[in-house]
Amino acid sequence: MFADCYKGKRVFLTGHTGFKGSWLSAWLTSLGATVCGFADTVPTKPAHFEAMGLGGHVRDLRGDIRDRDAVVRAMREFHPDVVFHLAAQALVRKSYDVPAATFEANVMGTLNVLEAMRACPSVQAGVFITSDKCYRNDEWVWGYRETDHLGGSDPYSASKGCAEIVAHSYFDSFFKNGPACATTRAGNVIGGGDWALDRIVPDCARAWSSGQAVQIRSPWATRPWQLVLEPLSGYLWLGAYLLGAQSGPFPVRGEAYNFGPAADVNNTVAEVVEALAAYWPGFRSEMDTSGHAGMKECTLLKLCCDKALAHLNWKATLTFDETIRYTAEWYREFYTGNASPAAILALTLSQIADYTAAARERGHAWAR
Ligand SMILES: NC(=O)c1ccc[n+]([C@@H]2O[C@H](COP(=O)([O-])OP(=O)(O)OC[C@H]3O[C@@H](n4cnc5c(N)ncnc54)[C@H](O)[C@@H]3O)[C@@H](O)[C@H]2O)c1
Repeated sequence: MFADCYKGKRVFLTGHTGFKGSWLSAWLTSLGATVCGFADTVPTKPAHFEAMGLGGHVRDLRGDIRDRDAVVRAMREFHPDVVFHLAAQALVRKSYDVPAATFEANVMGTLNVLEAMRACPSVQAGVFITSDKCYRNDEWVWGYRETDHLGGSDPYSASKGCAEIVAHSYFDSFFKNGPACATTRAGNVIGGGDWALDRIVPDCARAWSSGQAVQIRSPWATRPWQLVLEPLSGYLWLGAYLLGAQSGPFPVRGEAYNFGPAADVNNTVAEVVEALAAYWPGFRSEMDTSGHAGMKECTLLKLCCDKALAHLNWKATLTFDETIRYTAEWYREFYTGNASPAAILALTLSQIADYTAAARERGHAWAR
């Protein structure tokens, strides 16, 4: 798997206490990597990071990504082979409440990681995680391509567009002969272990596990929903190319890649809620759409992932129904089964193993 390139590698991973970072840390650890995580806090309660006791399996550093000296110090001290940068203020709604802090964390935080890499000669590769929201949203039906305009009117989206520009400026200006890097723009991810505010699946889990109806902001908004493991497989596979363990017909250094589901997976929020409810029998699943007027959020958003297929031979593995099933089963186990850290770690690793087996069966190159 991943050309076996993470075995024995030292990986510096920002945002390891968050939703995606905790899954990525668990996956990298299971691949034989030594992971050093850098994050300011554990952002939610409960949190996947704590639920599986991940602090006992990685080097768990606390620091603010806005503090350049702290990031440089931490990276130099760990001297990683590869960096995955995920730390961010990742919530659109919160970005309206704390716009300056969002730009500082997402733009200057990215710059600080790039500066730390410049100061750390051991680093061979870096994968920078931005977002599908980095694109200027024209509310059109086509998937955004990597060459489309960057933009974003809400502070979160704009900050991710800015992070892209900063990262590519550093790649072009300083890393031509330095670490091989690329940026990634994934769509909305769902999966077990997310408890962030104002995200549809955590909202359902919180509401239904306590017998409440779930409040829905934009029931008819469509998103390129995908299981958290899908973009993570893309990040890890891209990392294998950047590390030189895998090669293809196109150079990947300095590029940007979308990682999203198949073009026909573009369901509405309401469809996600209905599909999840089917796996949550006996719980209320009414939608309350009141109380969120006035906050601008795009309604149509889709990614074209042809470049990841052409350059990396990567495409998504799961159908929408499978994505929902993995997600619902994780939460059902957490709320009704054994929620000890060992059991939750085992559940997480078993979903990673199942997902990898499905990818291998479907002939996906990274899973060989
Ligand atoms: N979840 C999604 O649907 C989604 C979609 C597209 C892109 N992304 C991007 O993927 C990355 C991870 O997202 P997530 O869903 O895991 O987010 P999350 O909110 O669950 O986790 C964010 C992580 O960043 C850390 N962090 C935040 N501010 C920090 C600061 N100032 N200093 C140090 N650490 C800080 C948090 O402690 C946490 O570890 C983010 O860059 C996000 O923008 C997420």
